[in-house]
Amino acid sequence: MTRVTIQSLKGQKARGEKIAMVTAYDATFARLLDEAGADILLVGDSLGMVIQGNDTTLPVTVDDIVYHCRAVLRGTRRAHVVGDMPFMSYQESLEQGMRNAGRLMKDGGCHAIKLEGGAQHAPLVARLVAAGIPVMGHIGLTPQSFHQMGGFKVQGREPGAAERLVADARALEAAGAYAIVLEGIPAEIAAEVTAAIAVPTIGIGAGAGCDGQVLVVYDLLGMDERFKPKFVRRYADVGATVRDACGRFIADVRAGAFPAANESFSLDAPAPAPTPLYSVAGGKS
Ligand code: KIV
Repeated sequence: MTRVTIQSLKGQKARGEKIAMVTAYDATFARLLDEAGADILLVGDSLGMVIQGNDTTLPVTVDDIVYHCRAVLRGTRRAHVVGDMPFMSYQESLEQGMRNAGRLMKDGGCHAIKLEGGAQHAPLVARLVAAGIPVMGHIGLTPQSFHQMGGFKVQGREPGAAERLVADARALEAAGAYAIVLEGIPAEIAAEVTAAIAVPTIGIGAGAGCDGQVLVVYDLLGMDERFKPKFVRRYADVGATVRDACGRFIADVRAGAFPAANESFSLDAPAPAPTPLYSVAGGKS
């Protein structure tokens, strides 16, 4: 099976083929998403919220992203895997950004890194690309600037914002970014940015005019019934399914109805063949 590459993604934009990106944080989900045909798996710093239970992405560390990248890589065969640069892992200096991006590539094994911010990070993007590290940009609502923005607010509504976003996208493209996430901006502006650059845009809360779309996997699966933002389409009700299935297991245990005889080993039966005690997440069992 051929891997999705930064070149094949650019080809998708040129041919008008939409790009599907989903977040992934572990090998089991990575395998399922890879089999479902996702082009890109993003090991996003959203893991600080959906995995770690923080209110923002700010506490996530480079070690966290490295750990989850390694797991996700084990589950994939086709998807292009991108590791997110956490808050304050690149804002301090070019050297800090180079070192930490290198860690995501070398220790995490990912195929590219993503960083939040526009023209102000163009020098770092150019250095990373020159060193052979593909960079995905991220502009608009940048969750690492939560406190600066005063919350998770749609960006780009004020006068001059569209021009600034186009300028940021052009600066990132000129520095060598191979794709740019557009988050939480009006659809009209996202379409304008998309038309202004040759590299693919991947939208989240940015309308249908982007070259691709991304959602946090837990949100599209409906893991948290309380979370219903406008930009998420819920494709399943997995939260309720998990609660129901585990509730039935718990009830069976309490009633002494699990395990049944055919789910137990017996001295009367021939010795069973050795078998792994748990499924192997990457699907290699
Ligand atoms: O961290 C993340 O998951 C992201 C996407 C939502 C774009 O940055």
